[in-house]
This record gives sequence, C-alpha cells and structure tokens, in this order.
Amino acid sequence: MATILGIETSCDETSAGIVAGGYEVRSNVVATQFDLHAKFGGIVPEIASRAHIERLDGVIREAMERARATRDSIDAIAVTYTPGLVGSLLIGVTAAKTLAWAWSRPLVGINHAEAHACSAAIALGRAPWPAVALVVSGGHTSLYHVRDFDCIELLGSTTDDAAGEAFDKVASILNLGYPGGPVIDRVAAGGDPEAVAFPRTMLGPDSLDFSFSGIKTAVLYRVHGPGRTTGGLERLTRREVADIAASFQAAVVDVLVAKTMLAVRRTGTGTVVVGGGVAANRRLRTELAAACEREGVTLHLTPMAYCTDNGAMVAALAEHRLAAGRVAGLDLEARA
Ligand code: KG4
Ligand code: ZN
Repeated sequence: MATILGIETSCDETSAGIVAGGYEVRSNVVATQFDLHAKFGGIVPEIASRAHIERLDGVIREAMERARATRDSIDAIAVTYTPGLVGSLLIGVTAAKTLAWAWSRPLVGINHAEAHACSAAIALGRAPWPAVALVVSGGHTSLYHVRDFDCIELLGSTTDDAAGEAFDKVASILNLGYPGGPVIDRVAAGGDPEAVAFPRTMLGPDSLDFSFSGIKTAVLYRVHGPGRTTGGLERLTRREVADIAASFQAAVVDVLVAKTMLAVRRTGTGTVVVGGGVAANRRLRTELAAACEREGVTLHLTPMAYCTDNGAMVAALAEHRLAAGRVAGLDLEARA
C-alpha cells in the first residue's frame, strides 16, 4: 500500500491529489480555468499551459498541506502523460519528473482516459471489475472493457467530436454561454425532447464508435435555416431554444446509452461505470439507470469530484500500476 501524489494537467484543470492505498483520498485540489477561457467560447491551448505553469506549484503545495503530507510520506509521484493538449501535459510531466528525481521516488505515467475509466472505483472503495466503462467528457467519448486496473481494452471511441465538445458547440450556437454542458442541461429541462428529430448517428448496427459532428451541423441548420450559419437565432423564442436544447440532448443521450448497452451485451459484463464531465448530465444519468435496470445490469456513476479532471483519479490508478511494477523512467514524455 502506497501514498501517491497524482498530478493532472492534461487540459484546462490544474490538479493534484494524494491517495493512500488506491482508495483513501487524503486531498484532491483542482484549480479550474473557466474564467480564462470563457470569453473565447472554448479552451485556448496556449493560455491553458501558461496557467498550469502559474498554478501547479501552489496546487501541489495545497494538496500536501490538506493531506498533512510531507515529502517523506509520499511513496511515488504519478502524472497524466497522455492524451491531452501537449503544452498542458508537458507542465505536469515536468513537475512530476522533477519531484520524482528530487525526492528519489518512483514515477508512474498514467493514461488520462484510463484514469477516467477506473475512477468509479475510488468512491466504491473496491474494484468493480469486470465492467464496461463509458468515459464522456469535453475531450473524450470512449467505451472500455475494464477487466482489471491493469487490463483495459478500448471498445470504441469518437471518430470526430467528443460528446462534451458537442454540448459546448451547441451551447455556443444557441448563445447560451460556456461551458455548454451544464447550461444545456438546465435549459433542456424546460423544453420538449421530442420537438426536433435530430439524427442519432450510430455508424452501423455493430459499431461501438461515436460521431457527434453531424448533430452539431443539424442544430446549426435548424437554428439558421438549411445551409445557413447566421441570422436565425434572433427569430427563435425562448421556448424554441429550449426545445432545440432538449432535443439535441436527447439525441446525444440516446446514442450514449444505446452503445453502452451494446458494449454490455458484447462483453457479457454485468456492470457499467461512467466517468468524465458529461456524466453530470441529468438525462444521461436517468436514461442509463433505466436501461441498466431493464437489462439487470449494475450501474456505478462516479461522484462529480472524481468525474471531472482531477489528480486523485491519477494517484488512485497509479497505486495498482505501481503494485504491478509499471514504473516510468525520467525520460517519460508527454504525448498529445
Ligand atoms: O471531464 P471534464 O471536466 O474535462 C475534460 O476532460 O474534458 O469535462 C468537461 C465537459 C465539458 O464539455 C462540459 O460542457 C461537459 O463536460 N459537461 C456537461 C455537463 N457538465 C459538464 N455536459 C452535459 N451535461 C452536463 N450537466
Ligand atoms: Zn478528462
């Protein structure tokens, strides 16, 4: 059993968490950058990496203080090294290598998507494997078959936009603000999910891959008229905007739920876990819960603190990787 400092800087969250034995979260500090990117309507990579530089030392120090940890009580340093924005990843990887070298501790490189896939285990306090893991965030939409912390098979992923990215872009089309997921979730509550029949892109009956770029264009044309990209929003009433938001959300959720249940049938697994920022979506949670209940499948939704990007999920997975001897060298590189 190890006490591990986990560092996460793959996108726009600067985070450090300390986890003992893979399940006991001693601290989990997250500095978000919403304020810095909001006026651009999306993440600006250059701004994100600069903000990581400015914030990471303070975030690590706070994680150490909250956990009442000293350098002697940290057994290993873990860091997300892929996938993500390369400039952002570099900051975390450099900090982790520096600490591993200065403190003479092992370094563990963690794949960010695999950390999301395994994050449900933290709050459960045990390994729920084997399970199908749905990871849905602003950067990823993937299905995994997790047989163990060390045995994770990718079943399918998005071929273009991530689901969260689609929420953000549609919110921008509807001029609802950024980040788009929470606001679409809220506005959709006042709309009719059957008002507009947006496409459910399945990529074939057996495919576990996703595509969300078509629905984004469908929303754009619905708002402005066929083939048009401006001028239509002013003509819509608040009710019509809510109907579009609700119908868009319903279409995305239908696809996510259908493919998750297809993955369940294909793998013969009796458990589903869900992680990533879009897992906060209320319709996704209720629809997935209903589908799992219908098919007699156990569903574990990751608590929000471990759903969005965070250092604790990195440290938690690193416990199992360290136990399996999967240690990185100081030549570990950030991979986009
Ligand atoms: O996991 P996360 O914090 O960061 C990434 O790794 O991307 O996920 C952020 C994404 C954003 O696209 C945001 O719009 C979306 O999660 N999101 C939601 C909701 N809350 C956040 N999407 C749908 N419904 C929500 N309630
Ligand atoms: Zn993420």
